Amino acid sequence: MSESSSFPEGRIGLHAAARQSPELQSFQTRAVRGWGRADSRAPSLLPPIVQSATFAQAAPGESAEHTYSRASNPTVAALETALGALEDAPPAVAFASGLAATHALALATLAGGDHAIVSRACYGGTVRLFRQVLAPFGVSASFVDATDVRAIGSAITPRTRLILVETPANPTLDVVDVAAVARLAAAARIPLAVDNTFLTAFHQRPLDLGATVSLLSTTKWIDGHHATIGGALVARDAALLERLRFLRKSVGSIQAPFDAWLTLQGSKTLATRLERHAASALEIARWLDGQAGVARVLYPGLRTHAGHELARRQHRNGHGGLVSFELEGGRDAAIAFARRLELVTVAESLGGAESLLTHPVTMTHGDVPPAERRAIGITDGLVRLSVGLEGVDDIRRDLAQALDASRCAASAGAAALPVAAEEVACG
Ligand SMILES: Cc1ncc(COP(=O)(O)O)c(C=O)c1O
Repeated sequence: MSESSSFPEGRIGLHAAARQSPELQSFQTRAVRGWGRADSRAPSLLPPIVQSATFAQAAPGESAEHTYSRASNPTVAALETALGALEDAPPAVAFASGLAATHALALATLAGGDHAIVSRACYGGTVRLFRQVLAPFGVSASFVDATDVRAIGSAITPRTRLILVETPANPTLDVVDVAAVARLAAAARIPLAVDNTFLTAFHQRPLDLGATVSLLSTTKWIDGHHATIGGALVARDAALLERLRFLRKSVGSIQAPFDAWLTLQGSKTLATRLERHAASALEIARWLDGQAGVARVLYPGLRTHAGHELARRQHRNGHGGLVSFELEGGRDAAIAFARRLELVTVAESLGGAESLLTHPVTMTHGDVPPAERRAIGITDGLVRLSVGLEGVDDIRRDLAQALDASRCAASAGAAALPVAAEEVACG
């Protein structure tokens, strides 16, 4: 991988324009206008969805910019330009999912015999990828407490070729000091990737903090409407970006044009949506803290959060829309609570208009061994709330009634009963 962050100006489209033109300096403007302009004879306001597998060539071997949609596609390219512009980077590389992006990152940096350091508090699918898919190919991984920079330093071996941290982490919302880890990684000449899915560039800018790669599951806040599955890698290193495009073409993991188009439309309102999500999340977190039946609340915007001071330095415009909290009655209480929710939907995923709740132990982190889950702080009673765009009072009311029900069910030991039976047991 090249050490330089340079990118040939000719290929970067709006990246160069965004840097130079004063009207594209604000995050909001970049989000709405960052993809560029349609250059068709009918200059549509929105980029066209180029739903075509292949592209005509004037003569054999005389290919235009796009040749085949497994390699690149104009609609996907528009999204890539927009995502790059948000992080002051050349066009990103878009994938069919966040995990496809993580996989491409692993392929670009690791080979058999190599070693990766991964934050131990992270999305369960990332753990599964390293343990169950990459390990049989001879790639080893150490899962370390990334909030402890020295622990990362101690885990480095002569074969370490990638450090991947997720911050805030899924689902504990642990905050990692990206600048400190980046200094360590740079000294050891190891690329650092930050999974920025939970905050996006609106709240946190990994590349500016020294990371090599910013990784996104665009499925979440970037799309913002629970409509698509997608992922992206953002970087300023030209050689790395080229390698990622080559790998994507070779394994066939590019995002489909229509999904890219939907993601691009969603991304335009990122700043406006995230302002509201973060404000509502802070309000909900403050309210939850102190509610009967809630053992602890994890939100980086709360003073009680272990990473609060670091989060204040590292985040901008607030701390995102996710709040995790632990119910006193453990697993039974968490399940009873989830079952009683009426407005908030119990579903995997996060980051859209509708509030969603997950119970990591039975859902996203079911594949992580129980002892490890406990060490990370993923207790049986922990739930993660993605605070949506509904009225914050309505969300709070729903949580309140479900909390009452779960306390009642836990005291009656009735979590496993059908709702009607719980109602009887709880009076
Ligand atoms: C932090 C984080 N990274 C990556 C992923 C994987 O993304 P996708 O579901 O788009 O493959 C997820 C999915 O939940 C996630 O939460």
